[in-house]
Amino acid sequence: MSQVIGYERVGDIAVLAAQNPPVNALGMDVRRGLLAGIERAEAEGARAVLIYGQGRTYFAGADIREFGKPPQDPFLPALCDRIEASPLLVVSSLHGTALGGGLEVALSSHYRIAVPSAKLGLPEVNLGILPGAGGTQRLPRVAGVQAALDMITTGRHIPAPEALEMGVLDRVQDGDPRQIGLDYVAELLAAGASRRPVCDMPAPAPIDFDAAYEAVLKKGRGQLSPAVAVRAIQAACEAESFAAGQARERELFMDLMASDQRKGLIHAFFSERAVSKLPELAGIEPRALQQIGVIGGGTMGAGIATSALLAGLPVTLVEMSQDAAHTARDRIAANLSGAVKRGKLSQNAHDDILGNRLALATDYDALRSADLVIEAVFEDMEVKKQVFTHLDAVCKDGAVLATNTSYLDINEIAQATGRPGDVIGLHFFSPAHVMKLLEIVVADDSAPDVVATGFALGKRLRKVSVRAGVCDGFIGNRILSAYRACADHMVLDGASPYQIDKALTDFGFAMGPFAVSDLAGLDIGWATRKRKRAAGLPEGARDSTYADRLCEAGHFGQKTGKGYYSYTSGQRGGVPNPEVIPLIEADRVAQGITPRVFSEDEIVRRYMVAMVNEAARVVGEGIARRPLDVDMVLLYGYGFPRFWGGPLKWADIQGLPDILSDIREWSKEDACFWQPAPLLEELVAEGRDFESLNTA
Ligand code: CAA
Repeated sequence: MSQVIGYERVGDIAVLAAQNPPVNALGMDVRRGLLAGIERAEAEGARAVLIYGQGRTYFAGADIREFGKPPQDPFLPALCDRIEASPLLVVSSLHGTALGGGLEVALSSHYRIAVPSAKLGLPEVNLGILPGAGGTQRLPRVAGVQAALDMITTGRHIPAPEALEMGVLDRVQDGDPRQIGLDYVAELLAAGASRRPVCDMPAPAPIDFDAAYEAVLKKGRGQLSPAVAVRAIQAACEAESFAAGQARERELFMDLMASDQRKGLIHAFFSERAVSKLPELAGIEPRALQQIGVIGGGTMGAGIATSALLAGLPVTLVEMSQDAAHTARDRIAANLSGAVKRGKLSQNAHDDILGNRLALATDYDALRSADLVIEAVFEDMEVKKQVFTHLDAVCKDGAVLATNTSYLDINEIAQATGRPGDVIGLHFFSPAHVMKLLEIVVADDSAPDVVATGFALGKRLRKVSVRAGVCDGFIGNRILSAYRACADHMVLDGASPYQIDKALTDFGFAMGPFAVSDLAGLDIGWATRKRKRAAGLPEGARDSTYADRLCEAGHFGQKTGKGYYSYTSGQRGGVPNPEVIPLIEADRVAQGITPRVFSEDEIVRRYMVAMVNEAARVVGEGIARRPLDVDMVLLYGYGFPRFWGGPLKWADIQGLPDILSDIREWSKEDACFWQPAPLLEELVAEGRDFESLNTA
């Protein structure tokens, strides 16, 4: 008998137990085991079959690692049909998560019972595919079209009680999945219950599927799988038979399986799990994390404190004065009320946090017992050094001292203390209690257990933590400054900020770069430009001043009501600010540039190639350990479209030789900006791709 599907007889019932940790994924062995188990039960004269999962879950889905490889017999759709067609009474007992192919196996069973904590879902669209083993045909038959559309196009995990109401489950009962399953089967047999194949149920009445398709397509911002899934559900209603509907589902499934979006989304799935697993941290115990200190209660400090408080950690926040401390408390209180409004926090927990878990102080002494202190003060080296000298004087031995700097040299900051091994960068993204990305910046002397503590904190705060090395901007902001510069060059050469924003949102970015600048505040870019000019721009580097003119006029973006766009309060988004184009035109005239026309494709290509080239430098220099680290930074901190997997996955899909040849071509017009990254040249010369470095 199969190793991964246990077989046991309990009277008339054959019990098939999945034993494929960690999540009982339906890999080839599991599928073979299920098929063999059904055949054996039939051959042995059992009257019923119970299917359940051992360990933490029922089947959590197809084995995603098999995607993109030649499929192996028995295929899941055929297996599901075979289970459904069995002359025996087949019952599934669910616990943990019944997802994707897992729920499809359950839907092929004749009856379904689950423990109350079980979650059910068809999350395939999040992997760029659709339920391909009858899920789009069976779910609408048991739950109706609207419920199926909701579940399949969002991939939402439904709690068992809701699934019971929807008709997806027949019973919800507390207990051990094997035992409640056995009791239920015995009851069904005693009552003479008959088989109940979903394929024999009538097809639901069609709805306006064209309208549903359009609505889902629009919501997906370029992601295709949810919209394509609508067409599969349509087939459940309109095809002339169950088999014909299934054939249509298969066809659509295969199209998506071959798509680039599927590759990107699966890359994202595995990368977000791999990103915090660093070989150098294997076996290294993080330090204790019970008390957190935060210095500075501005937007960033208050956001960091909120994030820690929401994760159940007590926080002591130090500000310069009582007034500033009160303002910080108000900011945190506003963040927490937002969490209550969004249903993420109960009112009681909110009151407990503000009443008992948040301490405010104006004296560093309050940080004596903190296990980890995060500094979020003004971005100035001298100020930061003073903070760290103070921390060195008061913090207990072994406390982790972290800076939230975005650009500054953490090695220099660490030298302001007598314990550089305890110093690390924890770079949060604003708003820190919402954004998922955390760059863990490892300085020359950061001790391994300090790095491990950074990752432990990231996990506790439910962040996607990425290891970064020290350089100007670390991973994310350094790459940002390259692709942002490319956008500025295109503006000088003839594109408008609005055309660029549109091209990039059409590509799938949450926002275009100019709308992002307005949101972040144009003063940030202005300060950076001044800093870079003061340090001396490289020979031949291009510069533009139109954005300086906006800042000089007091236009800093959303916070002042005007930037690249003009904003009316109460309205989301803005309209192009008419003052901008004349400023750009004046800059072009001053620089003797004749504007030319850019197509959307060229805009996207240049912007993306600039991003990839800088990312290749960041990986080549070891600032990011692997290409997947860069991909996760862009996905979780910079609104990069998930269905492309990240810029370096995008680059692999486009082909690195073409990217390198574009850079060489464009370097003829601007040799300073378009210099190929050595790693990119190396990979092309060796016929390799970025993916080859993820597994190395
Ligand atoms: N296939 C292969 N490996 C899987 C997997 C799957 N379906 N689901 C999870 N894993 C792996 C993870 O990669 C991880 O491996 P490592 O420990 O080596 O990193 C391990 O199982 C544990 O997973 P998590 O860390 O994610 O554990 P969790 O408890 O946080 O979450 C989960 C569990 C909710 C099941 C989550 O893993 C998940 O959402 N999995 C994907 C579920 C899914 O999308 N299923 C549909 C698959 S597509 C399908 O079924 C197609 C079809 O119709 C034919």
